Amino acid sequence: MKAIAYKEFGTTAVLQIVEQPRPTITADQVLVKIKAFSINPMDWKIRKGEMTLMSGSKFPKHTGADFAGIVEEIGASVVGVKKGDEVFGAVKNMKAGASAEYVVITSSLIWKKPANISFAQAASIPVVGNAAVTAIQKMGNINSQTTILVNGATGGFGMFLLQLLKQRGAKVTAVASTEGSDFAKKWGANSVIDYTKENVLSRKETYDIVIDLSSKMGYKKAKQIMKAKALFLNPTPKPIEIPLALFKNLFTSQKHVVVLASSSTKNTNVLINAIEDGLQIEVDKVFPFAEYREAYEYAEQGGYIGKVAVEVN
Ligand SMILES: NC(=O)c1ccc[n+]([C@@H]2O[C@H](COP(=O)([O-])OP(=O)(O)OC[C@H]3O[C@@H](n4cnc5c(N)ncnc54)[C@H](OP(=O)(O)O)[C@@H]3O)[C@@H](O)[C@H]2O)c1
Repeated sequence: MKAIAYKEFGTTAVLQIVEQPRPTITADQVLVKIKAFSINPMDWKIRKGEMTLMSGSKFPKHTGADFAGIVEEIGASVVGVKKGDEVFGAVKNMKAGASAEYVVITSSLIWKKPANISFAQAASIPVVGNAAVTAIQKMGNINSQTTILVNGATGGFGMFLLQLLKQRGAKVTAVASTEGSDFAKKWGANSVIDYTKENVLSRKETYDIVIDLSSKMGYKKAKQIMKAKALFLNPTPKPIEIPLALFKNLFTSQKHVVVLASSSTKNTNVLINAIEDGLQIEVDKVFPFAEYREAYEYAEQGGYIGKVAVEVN
């Protein structure tokens, strides 16, 4: 089978299609023939060698976490899944390997694809969808009086977060590009700040919760726009920030809270229910497998709305 791999850290130029044997399954695993995978910033952060503490530096490395496809084989102890089922899921980020024709996965890490969405849309759910649900859990009790600023609102994470917050009735301000502003409104933001025209930090407004999905704000800057008692949610912490934030939170009511998500059935069910209730999944562009390098380049340059996906035939 074909898979995308690399033998050194670097730009998209290091990515190659390699031929390798189709993986074999153990009793609790499932072999999925991949129909689509989606691209996450994590893919290129790992590939550029920015996450070696967690990814290690051994090569070759495979890439890709999110996938959707059709069950091809099931292990002897697997229940609730059968050959031919349309499913989606995510391999553990640091192991990667969903950018391929087949993937082997523990049966507890796949879910039935909702019938009304495409494979590319289903492959767009796990990483950012579970992160959005985790972020909402970290927010605690939110209601129509809770003011939330979502900075970087129209990538994958923001797309799920805005719509889940809308379903919960929070008062959301989104920070997005000019092109993204209409999507942020469509997904439920009460107001939108165009970051190409205005710096949110120079405004007078303060919020109960600030979440930075752009990785460009950070806790120190965010404090200026947080209420005296407020949360800053950080899904891209530097390793040192994780213990530091916990310690500093003991002495401040402006809390710095790290969001680290992984896929779970509980959280994925929240997403599946939200999709049934009308949550929309925007896939900005779907590339054919042969154009995998262009797909990564397109995603890495930013400016897309929702997700970027690759179809595998
Ligand atoms: N901790 C976890 O478990 C977890 C899980 C999933 C994702 N993440 C991380 O969360 C972040 C968001 O994920 P994602 O998939 O949504 O990434 P993404 O698709 O790249 O979205 C980032 C968004 O930030 C916007 N942005 C860029 N510059 C900005 C600025 N100066 N001000 C405001 N917004 C700006 C981008 O808009 P334009 O492209 O229009 O400029 C884009 O919409 C990533 O860093 C990802 O690695 C963490």
